[in-house]
Amino acid sequence: MLDLFNDEAPWQEPLAEGAVILRRRAREQGAALLTEILAVAAQNPFYHRITPGGHRMSVAMTNCGDFGWSSNARGYRYSEEDESSGHKWPAMPTVFRQLALEAAREAGFTQFNPDACLINRYEPGAKLSLHQDKDEKDLRQPIVSVSLGLPAVFQFGGFERGDATQRILLEHGDIVVWGGPSRLRYHGILPLKAGVHPLVGAYRYNLTFRRAF
Ligand code: SIN
Ligand code: FE2
Repeated sequence: MLDLFNDEAPWQEPLAEGAVILRRRAREQGAALLTEILAVAAQNPFYHRITPGGHRMSVAMTNCGDFGWSSNARGYRYSEEDESSGHKWPAMPTVFRQLALEAAREAGFTQFNPDACLINRYEPGAKLSLHQDKDEKDLRQPIVSVSLGLPAVFQFGGFERGDATQRILLEHGDIVVWGGPSRLRYHGILPLKAGVHPLVGAYRYNLTFRRAF
């Protein structure tokens, strides 16, 4: 869909070695991505998982693809079913997969073959504390992270939780790719500010593509 509010072509902003922001890269696909998110959620609804420490996550999640990420009192894991319903995750929509492969390639990762897509839904106040993505088997494959809807501040740090972080505003359509020497960098999202996005409404969605196994 043509975006009447922003006709600027996408551009790249390097973050660190192996990490780059593809600004506005997913804008054209925004409406199609949102439609697919809602279709996935109609089959496997968003819910708030419990961390191994017993906290209810403020971000609501669902998944698509062969494997989905989840958390419960026993730990973090990837599984073929949604444990709340026993249903398999919906297939990864073609528009998701295509965009993830293109973004990875543009960031220099030509071998990306995601088998999992975590879909995060942030409401005002929701946040994701600093963490590493390290539940995946093959750390040679990057993370591709697509932002939709309300803007959020992304923290991108080092290899220890206490390292200094860059704070970057991620807006609708921005994609961050990190891999190679940056694959295990800590990252997180600061509490979401309330607002209304013209396409997405009062939420921020984030698609995180990974190779889990
Ligand atoms: C994540 O680290 O899983 C998601 C980050 C984001 O929401 O941008
Ligand atoms: Fe993450």
